[in-house]
Amino acid sequence: MTTIAEILREASLALEAAGSPTSRLDAEVLLEYCLKVDRLHFYTHPEQALNSEAAEDYAKKIDRRKKGEPIAYIIGVKEFWSLPFQVGPSVLIPRPETEVLVEEALMVMRQRRPRGWRVLEIGTGSGAVAVALASERTDIRVTATDLSGGALAVAKCNAERNGVGDRVLFLQGDLFEPVTGRYDVILSNPPYISSRDFELLPLGIRDYEPPDALLAGPEGIEFHRRLIFQGASFLKRGGWLLMEMGEEQGPGIERCFDAQGGYETAEVRSDYGGAERVVKARRK
Ligand SMILES: C[S@@+](CC[C@H](N)C(=O)[O-])C[C@H]1O[C@@H](n2cnc3c(N)ncnc32)[C@H](O)[C@@H]1O
Repeated sequence: MTTIAEILREASLALEAAGSPTSRLDAEVLLEYCLKVDRLHFYTHPEQALNSEAAEDYAKKIDRRKKGEPIAYIIGVKEFWSLPFQVGPSVLIPRPETEVLVEEALMVMRQRRPRGWRVLEIGTGSGAVAVALASERTDIRVTATDLSGGALAVAKCNAERNGVGDRVLFLQGDLFEPVTGRYDVILSNPPYISSRDFELLPLGIRDYEPPDALLAGPEGIEFHRRLIFQGASFLKRGGWLLMEMGEEQGPGIERCFDAQGGYETAEVRSDYGGAERVVKARRK
Protein backbone atom coordinates (compact mmCIF):
# COMPACT_ATOMS: atom_id res chain seq x y z
CA MET A 1 0.00 0.00 0.00
CA THR A 2 1.17 3.52 -0.78
CA THR A 3 1.73 6.03 2.02
CA ILE A 4 0.68 9.66 2.05
CA ALA A 5 4.29 10.82 1.69
CA GLU A 6 4.91 8.54 -1.31
CA ILE A 7 1.71 9.34 -3.15
CA LEU A 8 2.20 13.07 -2.69
CA ARG A 9 5.75 12.87 -4.00
CA GLU A 10 4.68 10.87 -7.07
CA ALA A 11 1.67 13.10 -7.79
CA SER A 12 3.61 16.33 -7.54
CA LEU A 13 6.33 14.99 -9.86
CA ALA A 14 3.68 13.91 -12.36
CA LEU A 15 1.94 17.30 -12.20
CA GLU A 16 5.25 19.13 -12.54
CA ALA A 17 6.06 17.07 -15.65
CA ALA A 18 2.60 17.97 -17.02
CA GLY A 19 3.47 21.67 -16.63
CA SER A 20 1.67 22.69 -13.44
CA PRO A 21 3.53 25.61 -11.81
CA THR A 22 1.92 24.74 -8.45
CA SER A 23 2.41 20.97 -8.57
CA ARG A 24 2.97 20.27 -4.86
CA LEU A 25 0.12 22.52 -3.79
CA ASP A 26 -2.22 20.94 -6.36
CA ALA A 27 -1.24 17.46 -5.17
CA GLU A 28 -1.93 18.40 -1.55
CA VAL A 29 -5.25 20.17 -2.21
CA LEU A 30 -6.57 17.17 -4.16
CA LEU A 31 -5.44 14.69 -1.51
CA GLU A 32 -6.93 16.87 1.20
CA TYR A 33 -10.22 16.69 -0.71
CA CYS A 34 -10.07 12.89 -1.28
CA LEU A 35 -9.16 12.04 2.32
CA LYS A 36 -11.31 14.78 3.92
CA VAL A 37 -8.44 15.89 6.16
CA ASP A 38 -6.60 19.20 6.36
CA ARG A 39 -3.12 19.59 4.93
CA LEU A 40 -1.43 19.57 8.34
CA HIS A 41 -2.41 15.88 8.51
CA PHE A 42 0.07 15.10 5.70
CA TYR A 43 2.94 16.34 7.87
CA THR A 44 1.77 14.69 11.07
CA HIS A 45 0.88 11.32 9.42
CA PRO A 46 3.23 10.90 6.41
CA GLU A 47 3.37 7.11 6.93
CA GLN A 48 -0.42 6.60 6.81
CA ALA A 49 -1.34 4.16 4.05
CA LEU A 50 -4.12 4.91 1.56
CA ASN A 51 -6.72 2.22 0.90
CA SER A 52 -7.14 1.21 -2.74
CA GLU A 53 -10.43 3.10 -3.16
CA ALA A 54 -8.91 6.40 -2.01
CA ALA A 55 -5.78 5.83 -4.10
CA GLU A 56 -7.90 5.17 -7.21
CA ASP A 57 -10.08 8.23 -6.66
CA TYR A 58 -6.95 10.36 -6.15
CA ALA A 59 -5.30 9.01 -9.31
CA LYS A 60 -8.38 10.00 -11.37
CA LYS A 61 -8.31 13.53 -9.98
CA ILE A 62 -4.58 13.87 -10.63
CA ASP A 63 -5.19 12.76 -14.23
CA ARG A 64 -7.82 15.48 -14.68
CA ARG A 65 -5.42 18.06 -13.29
CA LYS A 66 -2.63 16.81 -15.57
CA LYS A 67 -4.89 17.58 -18.55
CA GLY A 68 -5.20 21.17 -17.29
CA GLU A 69 -8.62 21.15 -15.60
CA PRO A 70 -8.78 23.83 -12.88
CA ILE A 71 -8.66 22.49 -9.31
CA ALA A 72 -11.93 24.27 -8.46
CA TYR A 73 -13.85 22.25 -11.08
CA ILE A 74 -12.26 18.99 -9.89
CA ILE A 75 -13.24 19.52 -6.27
CA GLY A 76 -16.43 21.45 -7.19
CA VAL A 77 -15.90 24.35 -4.83
CA LYS A 78 -14.11 27.72 -4.70
CA GLU A 79 -13.82 30.20 -1.85
CA PHE A 80 -14.81 33.82 -2.52
CA TRP A 81 -15.19 36.53 0.11
CA SER A 82 -14.34 33.78 2.64
CA LEU A 83 -17.54 31.90 1.65
CA PRO A 84 -17.75 28.52 -0.12
CA PHE A 85 -19.20 28.54 -3.66
CA GLN A 86 -20.18 25.47 -5.62
CA VAL A 87 -18.70 25.67 -9.13
CA GLY A 88 -19.07 23.57 -12.27
CA PRO A 89 -18.70 23.84 -16.04
CA SER A 90 -21.64 26.26 -16.40
CA VAL A 91 -20.05 28.98 -14.24
CA LEU A 92 -16.87 31.02 -14.22
CA ILE A 93 -14.66 30.23 -11.23
CA PRO A 94 -14.88 33.38 -9.06
CA ARG A 95 -11.56 35.23 -8.99
CA PRO A 96 -9.98 36.95 -5.97
CA GLU A 97 -9.68 40.24 -7.91
CA THR A 98 -13.49 40.36 -8.20
CA GLU A 99 -13.57 40.93 -4.43
CA VAL A 100 -12.51 44.51 -5.27
CA LEU A 101 -15.88 44.93 -7.03
CA VAL A 102 -17.63 43.80 -3.83
CA GLU A 103 -15.47 46.14 -1.73
CA GLU A 104 -16.30 49.11 -3.95
CA ALA A 105 -20.02 48.34 -3.90
CA LEU A 106 -19.94 48.17 -0.09
CA MET A 107 -18.05 51.47 -0.07
CA VAL A 108 -20.68 53.33 -2.11
CA MET A 109 -23.39 51.83 0.15
CA ARG A 110 -21.58 52.57 3.42
CA GLN A 111 -24.39 54.79 4.66
CA ARG A 112 -27.39 52.88 5.93
CA ARG A 113 -30.70 54.01 4.50
CA PRO A 114 -34.08 53.73 6.21
CA ARG A 115 -35.58 52.13 3.08
CA GLY A 116 -32.50 50.00 2.29
CA TRP A 117 -30.58 49.77 -0.98
CA ARG A 118 -31.86 48.29 -4.24
CA VAL A 119 -28.99 46.46 -5.91
CA LEU A 120 -28.79 44.75 -9.31
CA GLU A 121 -26.02 42.41 -10.41
CA ILE A 122 -25.84 41.61 -14.14
CA GLY A 123 -24.13 38.33 -15.09
CA THR A 124 -24.06 36.67 -11.68
CA GLY A 125 -22.48 33.33 -12.74
CA SER A 126 -21.91 31.34 -9.54
CA GLY A 127 -23.68 34.11 -7.61
CA ALA A 128 -20.43 35.04 -5.87
CA VAL A 129 -20.85 38.83 -5.97
CA ALA A 130 -24.57 38.93 -5.18
CA VAL A 131 -24.23 36.40 -2.34
CA ALA A 132 -21.18 38.17 -0.87
CA LEU A 133 -23.09 41.47 -0.81
CA ALA A 134 -26.22 39.94 0.69
CA SER A 135 -24.14 38.15 3.33
CA GLU A 136 -22.51 41.44 4.37
CA ARG A 137 -25.62 43.56 4.52
CA THR A 138 -29.11 42.59 5.57
CA ASP A 139 -30.47 46.00 4.56
CA ILE A 140 -30.01 45.52 0.81
CA ARG A 141 -32.30 43.82 -1.68
CA VAL A 142 -30.33 42.12 -4.43
CA THR A 143 -31.58 41.09 -7.87
CA ALA A 144 -29.09 39.01 -9.87
CA THR A 145 -29.41 38.09 -13.54
CA ASP A 146 -27.68 35.84 -16.02
CA LEU A 147 -28.30 34.73 -19.58
CA SER A 148 -27.38 31.17 -18.61
CA GLY A 149 -30.00 28.99 -16.90
CA GLY A 150 -27.25 26.57 -15.84
CA ALA A 151 -25.39 29.37 -14.09
CA LEU A 152 -28.54 30.57 -12.33
CA ALA A 153 -29.22 27.06 -10.97
CA VAL A 154 -25.73 27.04 -9.43
CA ALA A 155 -26.12 30.61 -8.14
CA LYS A 156 -29.40 29.71 -6.39
CA CYS A 157 -27.72 26.75 -4.66
CA ASN A 158 -24.92 29.05 -3.54
CA ALA A 159 -27.35 31.60 -2.15
CA GLU A 160 -29.09 28.83 -0.15
CA ARG A 161 -25.82 27.31 0.99
CA ASN A 162 -24.64 30.67 2.30
CA GLY A 163 -27.90 31.50 4.06
CA VAL A 164 -29.12 34.33 1.81
CA GLY A 165 -31.49 32.38 -0.46
CA ASP A 166 -34.47 34.46 0.64
CA ARG A 167 -32.73 37.79 0.01
CA VAL A 168 -31.46 37.41 -3.56
CA LEU A 169 -33.87 37.28 -6.50
CA PHE A 170 -32.45 35.48 -9.55
CA LEU A 171 -33.75 36.26 -13.04
CA GLN A 172 -32.79 34.90 -16.45
CA GLY A 173 -32.28 37.07 -19.53
CA ASP A 174 -30.07 39.27 -21.66
CA LEU A 175 -28.62 42.11 -19.55
CA PHE A 176 -31.53 44.32 -18.37
CA GLU A 177 -34.25 42.44 -20.26
CA PRO A 178 -35.68 40.62 -17.18
CA VAL A 179 -35.65 43.61 -14.79
CA THR A 180 -37.93 46.58 -14.19
CA GLY A 181 -37.70 49.76 -12.15
CA ARG A 182 -34.67 51.68 -11.02
CA TYR A 183 -31.78 50.67 -8.77
CA ASP A 184 -29.43 52.45 -6.37
CA VAL A 185 -26.48 50.30 -7.42
CA ILE A 186 -25.91 48.26 -10.58
CA LEU A 187 -22.78 46.15 -10.70
CA SER A 188 -21.32 43.62 -13.08
CA ASN A 189 -18.26 41.56 -13.81
CA PRO A 190 -19.15 41.19 -17.49
CA PRO A 191 -17.34 39.12 -20.10
CA TYR A 192 -14.37 41.32 -21.08
CA ILE A 193 -11.91 39.26 -23.09
CA SER A 194 -11.49 40.43 -26.68
CA SER A 195 -11.70 37.85 -29.48
CA ARG A 196 -7.93 38.18 -30.06
CA ASP A 197 -6.99 37.80 -26.37
CA PHE A 198 -9.30 34.80 -26.04
CA GLU A 199 -6.98 32.80 -28.27
CA LEU A 200 -4.07 33.68 -25.96
CA LEU A 201 -5.75 32.53 -22.72
CA PRO A 202 -4.12 29.67 -20.78
CA LEU A 203 -5.64 26.31 -21.84
CA GLY A 204 -6.96 25.70 -18.32
CA ILE A 205 -9.24 28.71 -18.79
CA ARG A 206 -10.02 28.48 -22.52
CA ASP A 207 -10.79 24.76 -22.54
CA TYR A 208 -12.74 24.54 -19.28
CA GLU A 209 -14.46 27.81 -18.35
CA PRO A 210 -17.66 28.81 -20.21
CA PRO A 211 -16.73 30.99 -23.24
CA ASP A 212 -19.93 33.03 -22.81
CA ALA A 213 -18.64 34.14 -19.41
CA LEU A 214 -15.36 35.40 -20.88
CA LEU A 215 -15.70 36.46 -24.48
CA ALA A 216 -16.94 39.97 -25.22
CA GLY A 217 -16.25 40.86 -28.86
CA PRO A 218 -13.49 42.33 -31.03
CA GLU A 219 -12.75 45.16 -28.55
CA GLY A 220 -13.39 43.51 -25.18
CA ILE A 221 -15.52 46.39 -23.87
CA GLU A 222 -18.73 45.64 -25.78
CA PHE A 223 -20.59 44.58 -22.60
CA HIS A 224 -19.36 47.64 -20.69
CA ARG A 225 -20.71 49.88 -23.46
CA ARG A 226 -24.13 48.19 -23.33
CA LEU A 227 -24.19 48.34 -19.53
CA ILE A 228 -23.35 52.07 -19.58
CA PHE A 229 -25.91 53.00 -22.23
CA GLN A 230 -28.77 50.71 -21.15
CA GLY A 231 -27.95 50.98 -17.44
CA ALA A 232 -28.64 54.72 -17.37
CA SER A 233 -32.39 53.99 -17.67
CA PHE A 234 -32.28 51.54 -14.73
CA LEU A 235 -30.36 53.75 -12.29
CA LYS A 236 -31.92 56.19 -9.86
CA ARG A 237 -30.56 59.72 -9.88
CA GLY A 238 -27.30 59.58 -7.86
CA GLY A 239 -27.16 55.78 -8.29
CA TRP A 240 -23.90 53.97 -9.08
CA LEU A 241 -22.78 51.74 -11.94
CA LEU A 242 -19.73 49.61 -11.04
CA MET A 243 -18.01 47.22 -13.44
CA GLU A 244 -15.00 44.97 -13.36
CA MET A 245 -12.71 45.46 -16.36
CA GLY A 246 -9.46 44.34 -17.96
CA GLU A 247 -6.23 46.08 -17.15
CA GLU A 248 -6.04 48.32 -20.21
CA GLN A 249 -9.73 48.94 -20.78
CA GLY A 250 -10.10 52.05 -18.55
CA PRO A 251 -9.69 54.75 -21.22
CA GLY A 252 -12.13 53.09 -23.67
CA ILE A 253 -14.74 52.62 -20.93
CA GLU A 254 -14.32 56.23 -19.73
CA ARG A 255 -15.00 57.38 -23.29
CA CYS A 256 -18.26 55.37 -23.27
CA PHE A 257 -19.34 57.08 -20.03
CA ASP A 258 -18.53 60.49 -21.57
CA ALA A 259 -20.38 59.64 -24.76
CA GLN A 260 -23.48 58.56 -22.84
CA GLY A 261 -23.38 61.87 -21.00
CA GLY A 262 -25.65 60.93 -18.10
CA TYR A 263 -22.92 60.06 -15.58
CA GLU A 264 -20.50 62.05 -13.45
CA THR A 265 -16.76 61.49 -14.08
CA ALA A 266 -15.82 57.81 -13.83
CA GLU A 267 -13.27 56.62 -11.27
CA VAL A 268 -10.97 53.61 -11.63
CA ARG A 269 -9.75 51.39 -8.76
CA SER A 270 -6.81 48.97 -8.98
CA ASP A 271 -6.76 45.45 -7.57
CA TYR A 272 -4.19 44.25 -5.02
CA GLY A 273 -1.86 43.18 -7.83
CA GLY A 274 -1.76 46.82 -9.02
CA ALA A 275 -3.86 46.31 -12.18
CA GLU A 276 -6.73 48.71 -12.92
CA ARG A 277 -9.75 46.50 -12.21
CA VAL A 278 -12.98 48.30 -11.30
CA VAL A 279 -14.59 51.38 -12.83
CA LYS A 280 -17.49 53.20 -11.21
CA ALA A 281 -19.53 56.23 -12.09
CA ARG A 282 -22.55 57.98 -10.62
CA ARG A 283 -25.75 58.74 -12.49
CA LYS A 284 -26.32 62.51 -12.68
C1 LIG B 1 -17.22 37.10 -16.15
S1 LIG B 1 -18.62 36.13 -15.73
C2 LIG B 1 -18.94 36.75 -14.09
C3 LIG B 1 -19.56 35.74 -13.17
C4 LIG B 1 -19.62 36.19 -11.70
N1 LIG B 1 -20.38 37.40 -11.56
C5 LIG B 1 -18.22 36.39 -11.15
O1 LIG B 1 -17.82 37.55 -10.99
O2 LIG B 1 -17.52 35.39 -10.85
C6 LIG B 1 -19.87 36.86 -16.72
C7 LIG B 1 -21.28 36.29 -16.57
O3 LIG B 1 -22.14 37.00 -17.47
C8 LIG B 1 -23.06 36.11 -18.05
N2 LIG B 1 -23.51 36.69 -19.33
C9 LIG B 1 -22.91 36.65 -20.53
N3 LIG B 1 -23.64 37.30 -21.44
C10 LIG B 1 -24.74 37.79 -20.78
C11 LIG B 1 -25.87 38.56 -21.18
N4 LIG B 1 -26.03 38.98 -22.44
N5 LIG B 1 -26.80 38.87 -20.24
C12 LIG B 1 -26.65 38.44 -18.96
N6 LIG B 1 -25.59 37.71 -18.53
C13 LIG B 1 -24.65 37.39 -19.42
C14 LIG B 1 -22.27 34.82 -18.21
O4 LIG B 1 -23.15 33.71 -18.31
C15 LIG B 1 -21.42 34.83 -16.94
O5 LIG B 1 -22.06 34.13 -15.91
